[in-house]
Amino acid sequence: MNRFYFPLWVDKLIPAVVGGIAFMGVYVFGLIFYGGAPAALDVGYMPDQPVPYSHALHVGKLKMDCRYCHNTVDKAAFAAIPPTKTCTNCHSAADQNNQVALTAIHSNSPALLPIRESAATGLPVPWVKVHDLPDYVYFNHSAHVTRGVSCVSCHGRVDQMEVVWQVKDLSMSWCLDCHRNPAPNLRPLDKVTQLDWVAPEDPAVLGAELQEKWNINPPTDCSTCHR
Ligand code: HEC
Ligand code: HEC
Ligand code: HEC
Ligand code: HEC
Ligand code: HEC
Repeated sequence: MNRFYFPLWVDKLIPAVVGGIAFMGVYVFGLIFYGGAPAALDVGYMPDQPVPYSHALHVGKLKMDCRYCHNTVDKAAFAAIPPTKTCTNCHSAADQNNQVALTAIHSNSPALLPIRESAATGLPVPWVKVHDLPDYVYFNHSAHVTRGVSCVSCHGRVDQMEVVWQVKDLSMSWCLDCHRNPAPNLRPLDKVTQLDWVAPEDPAVLGAELQEKWNINPPTDCSTCHR
């Protein structure tokens, strides 16, 4: 009986095939690992923060206004992340200058240790950025919040979040969809930070009225967002 022999050159292929299979494994692993990482998926991105700060507690329950902490949001392009001093208005260490502090809420809480350390050292708390547009995109908060666009349109119900996560994909088409038809997202200026506000009438009708009254016309030319 004739046995079938592979030609000799096949031997040389074996390392290539084994190498190829190993590479595929690494490749697929990398794809799942990096492709599936929240930063790459964007929507739903919810990084761990150094302090378990809860918007649901401070905004939802204690009814603090966004601008108490994000105090540049209606004046500048950037919505500031509050400095430690803003937190120690309420969460100071128990004694200050040998006096018992009156604002020492949860002053021994381990959850607030990074705040007390930051207050003592002067080094900022290393908060992790949640929303991050590419550098070639220009965005401006005050251009929106002073024109009746609420935080909720872009960030969702932050007042119900224990940990902030990204609700919208922040894609170009998302920006443009609203720039072409902003009316349903317009509301009275004093309701911009009130995320649970519901329009007393059809929001599209009210929005159309406000759009006309305030002469709102979001630009769609490229240089608006790419400059
Ligand atoms: C007591 C202070 C405080 C108040 C009040 C507050 N925030 Fe924040 N906010 C923070 C801190 C601290 C962070 C950074 C840590 C984090 O992401 O949770 C933050 C982060 C955020 C982020 C994510 C920022 C990023 O990195 O992309 C958004 C969005 C946000 N806040 C929206 C709001 C809105 C909307 C309101 C009002 C409804 C509000 N915040 C009220 C303190 C506050
Ligand atoms: C206006 C006062 C006030 C400010 C300002 C404030 N908080 Fe609070 N915070 C509270 C109160 C009140 C509680 C406790 C609520 C309770 O226990 O029911 C609390 C609770 C907490 C807790 C839970 C502590 C624990 O051990 O349960 C954390 C963490 C926290 N705050 C972080 C922060 C951070 C970070 C900042 C600054 C960005 C901040 N807070 C600013 C009033 C404040
Ligand atoms: C029209 C959409 C839109 C509205 C309205 C909006 N934001 Fe933002 N926000 C964004 C985008 C986009 C980013 C990411 C900006 C970047 O990476 O440059 C962001 C980032 C942030 C950040 C992180 C710091 C920064 O500036 O990058 C905070 C805090 C924040 N927003 C809070 C708020 C609060 C509070 C309100 C309401 C008073 C609000 N935002 C309204 C779209 C919006
Ligand atoms: C929910 C609606 C909405 C979304 C989403 C939105 N915008 Fe806007 N944008 C507006 C409105 C309304 C104005 C104000 C137009 C006016 O003043 O006539 C505006 C104004 C602007 C301006 C100022 C234009 C100027 O020169 O006055 C810039 C820049 C801008 N938007 C960029 C962006 C970018 C970038 C995104 C996406 C990351 C975005 N916007 C998402 C509604 C929106
Ligand atoms: C209202 C704001 C806005 C306007 C107007 C706008 N863009 Fe963009 N553009 C964005 C945002 C936001 C991104 C980032 C999208 C992302 O990260 O997925 C982007 C991304 C891009 C990219 C990179 C795309 C990619 O897939 O990597 C190009 C190219 C681009 N824009 C070209 C343009 C051109 C050309 C125009 C004019 C016809 C324009 N943009 C108008 C907001 C805008």
